[in-house]
Amino acid sequence: MSHTAAVPGSPQHFPGTPGAPATPRAVAARATDLSKVYGQGETRVTALDSVSVEFGKAQFTAIMGPSGSGKSTLMHCMAGLDTISSGSARIGDVELASLNDKQLTRLRRDKIGFIFQAFNLLPTLSAGENITLPMDIAGRKPDREWVSRVIETVGLSGRLAHRPAQLSGGQQQRVAVARALAARPEIIFADEPTGNLDSRSGAEVLGFLRESVRAMQQTVVMVTHDPVAAAYADRVVFLADGRIVEELHRPTADAVLDRMRLFDAKGRTS
Ligand SMILES: Nc1ncnc2c1ncn2[C@@H]1O[C@H](COP(=O)(O)OP(=O)(O)O)[C@@H](O)[C@H]1O
Ligand SMILES: [Mg+2]
Repeated sequence: MSHTAAVPGSPQHFPGTPGAPATPRAVAARATDLSKVYGQGETRVTALDSVSVEFGKAQFTAIMGPSGSGKSTLMHCMAGLDTISSGSARIGDVELASLNDKQLTRLRRDKIGFIFQAFNLLPTLSAGENITLPMDIAGRKPDREWVSRVIETVGLSGRLAHRPAQLSGGQQQRVAVARALAARPEIIFADEPTGNLDSRSGAEVLGFLRESVRAMQQTVVMVTHDPVAAAYADRVVFLADGRIVEELHRPTADAVLDRMRLFDAKGRTS
């Protein structure tokens, strides 16, 4: 592969950067005027209010915002884990609302990887078995070469025979990351993947997500509360009350923190 082309994560690759090419990159997923309403009458909550956002291929996006701002709802709607109320959610060119249950299950299995705060590993299986479990369930043959590369990238080569209980929190989450990557999904959604980890293990996991974007052109969308975690991403999208209120490109932790303070101040005065 040529390394003279724009490398994901390099400055020329950011659509919002001055001097960046005018043509946008390929889009892995897209929400258009996406709204999600829970309940009705007095319990009605607009969790997402006409959100439009694109997730470019081989781009690492962080989603931030106060608790209850709609971050998890956005992930769930984009991943086909929850229905939408209006607008559109697409993975690649596929409109999720157009799929029946069976098609949706297949799309989730083949195109989408998930990483949650709780690692969701099966305790009785080894790390290696956990990594290939989704493909085994689907009756799909793992691409051995690819899976080896994933395992090497996340640094688990020496740990494959270990059960989750024999691994540290960081290592367990790395197994979850490898499991998500192993099936070569179109896009990975991670909802506070480092929320349960100490800062060192968290940095490990974030490093591997970053590396999967750089080395394997993976697309990653990650919810986080942590400005340091967000700084691993190519861009940060801020949600407030179910709306996108701000976007930062090539974020530094300090820039993210500044924005968070600004929103806090606005929240207090309004
Ligand atoms: N299943 C649900 N039923 C009713 N309300 C929900 C449900 N899930 C989320 N909500 C509401 O939608 C809003 C956004 O929630 P969520 O997406 O979980 O926020 P975040 O992840 O940013 O903390 C909140 O007001 C929350 O209470
Ligand atoms: Mg949430």
